[in-house]
Amino acid sequence: MSGPNTDYDPVEVDALKPEEVEAARDAALAAIAQAADLADLKQVRTAHTGDRSPLALANREIGALPPQARKEAGQRVGQARGAVGKALAERQVVLEAEHEERMLVEETVDVTLPTDRLPRGARHPLTTGAEHIADIFVAMGWEVAEGPVIEAEWLNFDALNLGPDHPARTMQDTFWTDPEDHGLVLRTHTSPVQARTMLTRTPPIYVVCPGRVFRTDEYDATHSPVFHQVEGLAIDEGISMAHLKGTLDHFAAAMFGEGISTRFRPSFFPFTEPSAEVDLVCFVCRGAQVVTTADGVETCRTCRGEGWIEWGGCGVVNPRVLTACGVDSERYSGFAFGMGIDRTLMFRHGIEDMRELFEGDVRFTTAFGTEL
Ligand code: PHE
Repeated sequence: MSGPNTDYDPVEVDALKPEEVEAARDAALAAIAQAADLADLKQVRTAHTGDRSPLALANREIGALPPQARKEAGQRVGQARGAVGKALAERQVVLEAEHEERMLVEETVDVTLPTDRLPRGARHPLTTGAEHIADIFVAMGWEVAEGPVIEAEWLNFDALNLGPDHPARTMQDTFWTDPEDHGLVLRTHTSPVQARTMLTRTPPIYVVCPGRVFRTDEYDATHSPVFHQVEGLAIDEGISMAHLKGTLDHFAAAMFGEGISTRFRPSFFPFTEPSAEVDLVCFVCRGAQVVTTADGVETCRTCRGEGWIEWGGCGVVNPRVLTACGVDSERYSGFAFGMGIDRTLMFRHGIEDMRELFEGDVRFTTAFGTEL
């Protein structure tokens, strides 16, 4: 026999020493207090209460103690764990509240801010169409000219060889502005821009003029009291009808595709001599007058089986117009042409009702996007 026979088992477990438990608890409480947000707190929770945390390890060691020591150690660890758990729960509440408050501030919707929700429209096909036409001519070295829509009667008619009693004046149903003897009209065509250009410039002149024109037409599927024309004018030495034909063939191909050319039919305009109506090879059937569909061969609907589409008027500038506009008609000659932009777009896009171009329905405009 040696020594007193007590049941004290001197197994010492470091993790359960009061100072160790206290240190583990204090470290946990400090970490909890420092956790700046919920994510931080989550990490702290794992580090200080997870399976591998000092307090969890200590808890597990209790079982290794002799029974007499278990109670005290158990209480110590239990209290420490309780304190940590409580601190965690309290910090959780505080951080959640902070988080919520921050979200309310950060995610505030300022209903007075300008919104982007309005559907965006697109540029109108008449605008992009006129620009596209102008580009074709600018690429050939032409310039773009403009004129006013309220025009002097003299420029709209007289300068263009349409004298006061000329029967052709009635060909174009004119909107006169009040009082009538002011001599101002809403221009009935873009041809007065020819006159304006010749009066202010010296040849050589190569200008193209897209613009709005007005006639007292009914408003229906193929007519409108306001529509758009593009006028072309070339004045130089030795200009002939051949230059006109070449220019229009190029214009047609650039607009409707390679191989689409034009033909001239004799016509009359007081400001050109000779004059012609210009037709375009139908760009759908390409002159074949018929198209082949799944159901067989059908008459081409675009040209109504003609193989040609009426496009506009043209001719060699009448020397009387050159003289009226101060151009030496002995030295210079020129050609001019004019066509409807609206009609051109209707062919190009298969638009069946002209009114669609004017009614401002954003769905129509948007369908064209920024394309011509
Ligand atoms: N101005 C004519 C019209 O509106 C078209 C045209 C222009 C004809 C230029 C010949 C030359 O009908």
